[in-house]
Order: sequence, then structure tokens, then C-alpha cells
Amino acid sequence: MREKLVIGNWKMNGSALHIDSFVDALRQKIPADFRAQTLIAPPACYLGYASPRFEEVGIGLCAQDVSAYPVGAYTGEISAGMLLDLGCRFAIVGHSERRSYHGETDAVVAAKVKQALRDGIRPVVCVGEALAQREEGRYEQVIRQQVQAVLQVCEPEVWSDLVFAYEPVWAIGTGQTATPEQAQEAHRFIRSLLGAPGASVSILYGGSVKPENAAAIFSQPDVDGGLIGGASLCAADFKAVFSAI
Ligand code: PGA
Repeated sequence: MREKLVIGNWKMNGSALHIDSFVDALRQKIPADFRAQTLIAPPACYLGYASPRFEEVGIGLCAQDVSAYPVGAYTGEISAGMLLDLGCRFAIVGHSERRSYHGETDAVVAAKVKQALRDGIRPVVCVGEALAQREEGRYEQVIRQQVQAVLQVCEPEVWSDLVFAYEPVWAIGTGQTATPEQAQEAHRFIRSLLGAPGASVSILYGGSVKPENAAAIFSQPDVDGGLIGGASLCAADFKAVFSAI
């Protein structure tokens, strides 16, 4: 379903103490009828700890990754079913840090997406080009390949459960965000790859979103929200970002 989503990605940051102080600092509960779903992806080991605490302030849970397998001898992996047990309904898949530091290929990302959907977890599929690829004028080609790898393994009837996050690699953690026009152009392109079902798929922007630039990016017609890294670690900044939607 095309809806507005703002998801904080804590990456390998945070602690039980951080979760407590974050929730305290937010103070007011986000109303159930707020115009966007607001979620945070803490490290997996804190999902259970965070679940009731985030719920108290109206924040949903997202995982940073999910296994391509349902169960079995896969040391270190966490299945979609296990995430559901913890009250988690979404998982980031194919973040560029996992693609580049953990060798996740388009095929691995597609397998994770397929398994997540099968077990009731909505994947937040990250796609985006590196700086050199943009400079060489190949950014559409890169995104097309990443998006199509995922679409090929799932039936169009379930595409509306997918969420895409356009995250240009050159904008992640660099402070250099895409301009609202660049974001809109890439989002419109991703939506065009989905054809008619694309009208009901949420596409988020990620890459150095901060309180100062969130409103301009979120105002673009094909931007349905954001995947927020650094700025999601501070409750005041995260609140300022999701309030801009
Ligand atoms: P950033 O990270 O907001 O710190 O650039 C975004 C992301 O990696 O999802």
C-alpha cells in the first residue's frame, strides 16, 4: 500500500540506555492517526528490548536485515518469522553497506525479499548508485538492475507490500544529500519500472536527510518518506524530520 513512512536506521549504534533516553526525550506519543508510519530499526539484539518501549511512544519496529532462509543451520541469521515474534513488520534489505561490506549481490537481496514477503515481513529494499556510476551517466541502468532483480522473484500481486528506498551511495553518511529534484527524478524512474502497480508502492529517500532538508525532499510528489541514518539517533532531530512529512 502506498503510504508515508519515516524509518530511522540506527545501524550498529545504540544501547539499552540509548533506547531509554531516546524514548524519554520524545516525550509525547506520536498519535495513531499521524500522517506517516514512524519506525526505527535498532540493532537486532535490541528489537525485543525496544519493542514495548517504542510502542509506548507510537514508534514501530523495523529490522536492519532478514535471512533469505526460513529456518535451519544458518549461524548468525535471523528469520522473518523470528522478527514477527518480536512485533516487527518491516525489514531493511540490501542496504548499500550490506551490499559493499558483506558482499550481498542482487540475487541475495532478491532471495531475502522473497522469503520476507512469504513470511509476512514487508521488505524495505535499498537501491542506489555510487558516485562514479552517476558521473558516468549510468545511474538509471544501476537502479533498473537492482529493482528488476527483486521484481523478478515476486508476483505483481504482492508488489504493494514492497517498499523501496532510493539511497544514492554518495549521499549516505556524507552530509551531501541529493537535491529534491534529483530525488524526485530517481523516484519517478523507480515508479515507472513498476508499471501500474507502482501507484501503490511506497518509495522512500535516504542519504543525509536532516531537519534542515527533510521538508524539501518530502514535498516531492514521488517521495513517500525517508530512511534516516545519522539524524535518527537523536530524538529531537528524528522528531523534526518525521514532523516535516
Ligand atoms: P544517513 O544514512 O542518513 O546517515 O546518510 C542513511 C542510510 O544509510 O539509510
